[in-house]
Amino acid sequence: MKILVTGGTGYIGSHTVVELQNRGYDVVIADNLSNSYEYVVDRIEQITGKRPDFHRIDLTHKEQTADLFKQHSVLSGVIHFAAFKAVGESMENPLDYYRNNLDSLINVLEGMKNNSIRNIVFSSSCTVYGQPDELPVKETSPIKEAWSPYGNTKQMSEDIIRFAVNAHGLKSIALRYFNPIGAHDSALIGELPLGVPNNLVPFITQTAIGKRKSLKVFGSDYNTHDGTAIRDYIHVVDLAQAHVVAIDRMIDNRSKLDFEIFNLGTGNGFSVLDVVKSFEKVAGQKLNYELTDRRPGDIEKVWADTSFANAELGWSAKRNIDDMMRSAWKWELALSDNK
Ligand code: UD1
Repeated sequence: MKILVTGGTGYIGSHTVVELQNRGYDVVIADNLSNSYEYVVDRIEQITGKRPDFHRIDLTHKEQTADLFKQHSVLSGVIHFAAFKAVGESMENPLDYYRNNLDSLINVLEGMKNNSIRNIVFSSSCTVYGQPDELPVKETSPIKEAWSPYGNTKQMSEDIIRFAVNAHGLKSIALRYFNPIGAHDSALIGELPLGVPNNLVPFITQTAIGKRKSLKVFGSDYNTHDGTAIRDYIHVVDLAQAHVVAIDRMIDNRSKLDFEIFNLGTGNGFSVLDVVKSFEKVAGQKLNYELTDRRPGDIEKVWADTSFANAELGWSAKRNIDDMMRSAWKWELALSDNK
């Protein structure tokens, strides 16, 4: 059985390809390498002993996408990761975000429709909830007005899929990720931020290795146990495994609805300083950090109610915050060894 993974050389995509191949699926990757490298395909082969079929194509290009589906017209499913994902950048270049994230999704859905491919897993985000009124946040919690074009493309994509599923007899599962961090235990694949990282964990590991002077902790006056903002961090390998469970569910016809939505988190909230402490513990070194102003657009706290995903998917996150930080650190050390 063959699965198309768009964005399969990216951070979450590459970990998911590994888990799919471990489970026995054949994988076709489509990626334009806008935020990843072709050597990731070699790394996946090193880990799994199997080489995914890699196509460098731009999914916003209608003909290229149609051609890809012509070459691979028999697919058991699609996992659609390919998208821009930087919140700040999306505020500066909103049109690029809408064009890239929506055109690619539409072209993929069209390819599926034209080739009678039914199943699609979509990479969504907890950003669709904004600052929820109640915590932990459930899948049924209201969608709040988007704070960024990035978040808005996730909301719009869920709507596009909902209607396409209805009209064209497709099936879909949207997975709303909380904060994916960490790396594969082999330290052969992980997150590769270009330039100065926006996200917390790459900034921590780059500071610890000496690439950055000091971590700025954005906000110390939030209404939380230590004043810093709270997120639900989840190990990228736990997240990747949930995608395999979702694909299996659709292929085995176990979906209860044609469009299902699940939260993917651990259900535990950690503050920025909790994460720093966990890092210091597993790395055995102190981190340089300073408390600074809040980052505009950041919410105070969010963590997932995972009971629906746990019960329905029979999946739960296994790795704790120390496991996450240990693997992120191992990955950073491996990156510096390779230079
Ligand atoms: C954001 C998006 C999320 C997206 C993710 C990955 C929202 C609400 N969330 O998550 O949808 O998938 O980025 O791109 O838009 N922090 C610092 N110092 C730093 C960096 C971060 O203190 O140098 C803090 C932040 O203020 C925040 C926490 O660490 O409290 C996590 O930040 P980050 O890793 O950027 O993820 P989110 O903003 O939660």
